[in-house]
Amino acid sequence: MHHNAHGRATLGGKLSAVLVAAGSSVGLGNIWRFPYVAGDNGGGAFLVIYICCVLLLGLPIMLAEFTVGRASHRNAVGAYRALDRRWSLLGYNGVLAAFLILGFYFVVSGWTAEYMVHSLTGSLAHFTEATQYKAVFENFIQNPWRPILYTCLFVLATHAVISLGVQKGIERSAKVLMPLLFLILIVLSVHAVLMPGGEAGLRFLFRPDFSKVTASTVLVALGQAFFSLSIGIGTMVTYASYFKADTNLRHTALNVTILDTAVAILAGVVIFPAVFSVGIEPSSGPSLVFITLPSIFNGMPWSMVWSSVFFLLLVVAALTSTISLHEVITAYLHEEWHLTRRKAAWATTAATALLASVASLSLGAWNGLELFGMSFFDALDFLTANILLPAGGLFTCIFVGWKLDQQVLRNEITNRGALSFRIYGLFRALLRYFCPAVMLLVFLDNLGVF
Ligand code: PFF
Repeated sequence: MHHNAHGRATLGGKLSAVLVAAGSSVGLGNIWRFPYVAGDNGGGAFLVIYICCVLLLGLPIMLAEFTVGRASHRNAVGAYRALDRRWSLLGYNGVLAAFLILGFYFVVSGWTAEYMVHSLTGSLAHFTEATQYKAVFENFIQNPWRPILYTCLFVLATHAVISLGVQKGIERSAKVLMPLLFLILIVLSVHAVLMPGGEAGLRFLFRPDFSKVTASTVLVALGQAFFSLSIGIGTMVTYASYFKADTNLRHTALNVTILDTAVAILAGVVIFPAVFSVGIEPSSGPSLVFITLPSIFNGMPWSMVWSSVFFLLLVVAALTSTISLHEVITAYLHEEWHLTRRKAAWATTAATALLASVASLSLGAWNGLELFGMSFFDALDFLTANILLPAGGLFTCIFVGWKLDQQVLRNEITNRGALSFRIYGLFRALLRYFCPAVMLLVFLDNLGVF
């Protein structure tokens, strides 16, 4: 990182802004969460609603968050406070959401790390049936200590990047690893589509059946869009606080959104043909990809190599996302509580490791630990993606659309007039009227008001 005149870190060139923001967005949300929620919600119709949410809500909100971050140069809480005292609550919503997301995200990241190790040692290659992979997965996540060990290793890896400030290294490796992830997904999708039954999977993903759509489908799609794009939570506010004055916010948001959505759709093209081919239910939930992926690799030549490389890339994709979540909390503690960055990072690390360990145990040894009638792990996922993030997005729109000095908004979006933005009027209308109205309706609909 470079340092600007105020001694605050800034990011390198134009590419870096896109890279770090895409690093945050592209992660387990695309490859683990998207296929399982799409599978749970009927496939094709969900995909259509998801894409509408990304373009009409996600894109304007990402731009709004970039504006707040770069206009204030502060952490999520400090940013809203600096612009309007009463709105710091929106920042707290983000810090809380980041903490709760890390509670389950670190656990799933731990699973991917374990699967990478198993791929390297070849111990995943012995099985032939999907039911066997299901048993392996369930056996693993219910073990009282092994997943916690991997989870904690992952937490420490995140801590190391945050505290050693090796962002440059991460930025540079992301430049290579992200295209590699894309490439390997393309190879896997070709393989998956050609598997017997592959066509049924494509039909499931791309042929919408709107009769399956309910109020909750729309909320889940909205939540998944926000989760996947890392918005509604203050992550993009925090990252944009490090952007340079000449970073083009519109291009950054557009590129990140396109990349993120392409990876999610590709993941669907890999997973669903394979799901139908090996006879798993598309609505198997969080275990879906962990059962499906090893089955795909098994049918490929050099399966060990493919699966090791793939899980390695997944680990890296998860790591660039956990770093961004960790940074939201660390920056908040550092700047608002005046802890040294070192102490702030350790406090975040310790608290999230504890929460993640409890979440991991709630799937096995402590399976009586439930909240809202679901496991503690599922409850963290549900609460953040379906409630905190959409609520954060709603209030971000209201704040940036109605409360923020509109000259600040225009200045940030156009880099003080240096860039033209022909559809600025459309963007503002979406932010002021369309997005809040849609989100409010979706919320009310889910509360059973209509
Ligand atoms: N967007 C990440 C993913 O799709 O895996 C997860 C995430 C990262 C969500 C950062 C929210 C966030 F602030």
